Amino acid sequence: MSALYRARPDHGVAWVTGASSGIGRATALELARRGFTVLATARTQTTLDELVAEAKGLTGRIIARAVDVIDAEAQNSVIADVEAQHGPIVLAFLNAGVYWPMRAHPFDGAAFMRIFDVNVGGVVNGLSAILPRMVERRRGQIAINASVAGFGGLPRAAAYSGSKAALIVMAESLKLDTDALGINLQLVNPGFVKTPLTDKNDHPMPFLMELDEAARCICNGFESGDFEITFPWQLARILKTLRLLPYRAYFWLIRKATSWPPEAQK
Ligand SMILES: NC(=O)c1ccc[n+]([C@@H]2O[C@H](COP(=O)([O-])OP(=O)(O)OC[C@H]3O[C@@H](n4cnc5c(N)ncnc54)[C@H](OP(=O)(O)O)[C@@H]3O)[C@@H](O)[C@H]2O)c1
Repeated sequence: MSALYRARPDHGVAWVTGASSGIGRATALELARRGFTVLATARTQTTLDELVAEAKGLTGRIIARAVDVIDAEAQNSVIADVEAQHGPIVLAFLNAGVYWPMRAHPFDGAAFMRIFDVNVGGVVNGLSAILPRMVERRRGQIAINASVAGFGGLPRAAAYSGSKAALIVMAESLKLDTDALGINLQLVNPGFVKTPLTDKNDHPMPFLMELDEAARCICNGFESGDFEITFPWQLARILKTLRLLPYRAYFWLIRKATSWPPEAQK
């Protein structure tokens, strides 16, 4: 268990981005179950309203604000407003992200940049909104949601894996500073979790996890305070081990395991 700061419901508010669906939604509900007042943000007001209603009767509660993680200014003003009304944000789960499969040919640069804008730019905007406030208070916990897909290049994932690799290295680097600032910076690396994001996959998803179990793993990880929260451990261990291999072996094994490229395109 980490000696670094770990947020508790009586310390203040927990903020979850991308909370209208999937992992963010399930984690917001789990945090409310564990007693937190949760600020849930995403772009879609109607799904956020449904989430607030679903949380009624839990130990904690959910408040929601519609905001795009790409809009740094709007997000800053949401954070200022919520802190003024509900108290300090002590835990931030920077989770919002997008994925769509991409190939080298045809190469879609605009779609590539859109994934980076949301997945990397959105996290940077989240850090800009909350990190200075936490540093001033010398207290806070921030978890960045990357992915095991960021451990190495995977088929059709140049933009997605690239964006998640960027987050992993960003988190490692920031931690070298934040430990001394009273901020516990964490990295979440989920494997496959059943959500609308993975519903578009037409390939096998080994060790696919249900949402509720993933949300419990994430919240247990917040409570432990350890740097990396990764699950399921089997997939994380396999992909981390592959990363240690020489590239020739890495590419051979990834092609073999994913049957890539498809027979028709060889
Ligand atoms: N599912 C998996 O297997 C898996 C594995 C590893 C990592 N992850 C990561 O987990 C995170 C959540 O994924 P998920 O599977 O839960 O996907 P999801 O169900 O599609 O949810 C994505 C969430 O992000 C929000 N979002 C998207 N673009 C946004 C923007 N520009 N501004 C604000 N919010 C935005 C969406 O809400 P709105 O559309 O309402 O804005 C939604 O709430 C992502 O970062 C993903 O990369 C997922």
